[in-house]
Amino acid sequence: MKIGIPKETKEKESRVAITPEGAKYLIQKGHSVLVEIDAGLGSGFSNEQYEQAGAKLVSTASAWAVDMVVKVKEPLESEYRYLDSQIVFTFFHLAGVSPELTLELLRKGTTAIAYETLEDEQGRLPILAPMSAVAGNMATLMGSYYLAKFNQGKGIQLGKVLGRRFGKVVIIGDGVVGQHAAQVACAMGADVFVAGIDLDAMHKLKMTILPEVNFFLSNKENIGKHIIDADLVVGAVLCRGAKAPKIISEDMIKSMAEGSVVVDVSIDQGGCIETSRPTTHSDPVFIKHGVIHYCVTNMPGAYPRTSTIALVDATLPYIAKIADAERSSLKFDNELAKAINVFDGKITCKAVAEGLEMMDQYQPLN
Ligand SMILES: NC(=O)c1ccc[n+]([C@@H]2O[C@H](COP(=O)([O-])OP(=O)(O)OC[C@H]3O[C@@H](n4cnc5c(N)ncnc54)[C@H](O)[C@@H]3O)[C@@H](O)[C@H]2O)c1
Repeated sequence: MKIGIPKETKEKESRVAITPEGAKYLIQKGHSVLVEIDAGLGSGFSNEQYEQAGAKLVSTASAWAVDMVVKVKEPLESEYRYLDSQIVFTFFHLAGVSPELTLELLRKGTTAIAYETLEDEQGRLPILAPMSAVAGNMATLMGSYYLAKFNQGKGIQLGKVLGRRFGKVVIIGDGVVGQHAAQVACAMGADVFVAGIDLDAMHKLKMTILPEVNFFLSNKENIGKHIIDADLVVGAVLCRGAKAPKIISEDMIKSMAEGSVVVDVSIDQGGCIETSRPTTHSDPVFIKHGVIHYCVTNMPGAYPRTSTIALVDATLPYIAKIADAERSSLKFDNELAKAINVFDGKITCKAVAEGLEMMDQYQPLN
């Protein structure tokens, strides 16, 4: 199969969808890999390294004119003209972004296979997880940075000062993002509170990897109570494939002290904070009701070397699996079937169709 790797176009996005080592692996399996010139530079991989691996360096248009395009982020408007009947394997977050991309995929007959809904046999999200780990670590670091007075923050440092704790961190969601944000906040020495929906799961986390965290059940009353004196709030919920539920209301944000910070990591799925809107690495924050909002949709793009290597470790077996298969047989693979969001001009993921209010375009795969 001909596999194309375009250069990412999202603002300050320096990840790339394949490493030279990954390209070599696919080529050894009999596939051809076409990498757009300079696609790897931001992650520290030169054009020569891809050539030495056996890949062909090509233009943007040629990287899209293939059987399967492998990307990092969703196609942007400037890339819609390249969409065709090829397979595109990337993060799509269709329910969280505008419906235009979905309409375009439907119109062109593109097969859209989404990293974020690919589930392994244990029900985990193996491709989302490494990026969530990076984003979770970063959420606490960014929150801590924007709490600085020179950033219009409260001037509270998250951490222990000669044994005394400073800073209250409240994290909504106890999955990969939530656990990593909590681990960093605990390591800094802040007081950390995590909200989840499954008491057993929270108990297990407390007994194993997060003994210092105070867990509480996620509901309106508890969240309202905890948020009021929080210095940093991290939004880390996920309802697979679906638009994120608005767990934190505008009134809750109004109840927070001026200079507090919220980091809405769930913004790629539309955001779990009512006052959030997507921001970029160049212009990452805005202030609403005195609260600093950080809502960057491609946080791991800030650390492309780490993120690219971690992402390709996760995607490579699936890229190979898709490339080795017939397109028509993909829907019979349990893991890939969950990842196929658009197929033969229909939305095949119910959560996406519901989130976009496009149930008339929904058709289950099998
Ligand atoms: N902005 C970015 O750059 C970026 C990067 C990586 C991941 N993300 C996003 O972060 C979000 C979280 O990802 P994840 O990998 O941690 O997912 P996950 O599935 O590992 O965890 C999500 C958690 O949310 C919990 N949850 C669901 N509803 C809840 C509620 N009402 N209250 C409290 N908890 C609730 C679930 O129980 C689950 O534990 C996703 O939307 C993901 O796409 C964003």
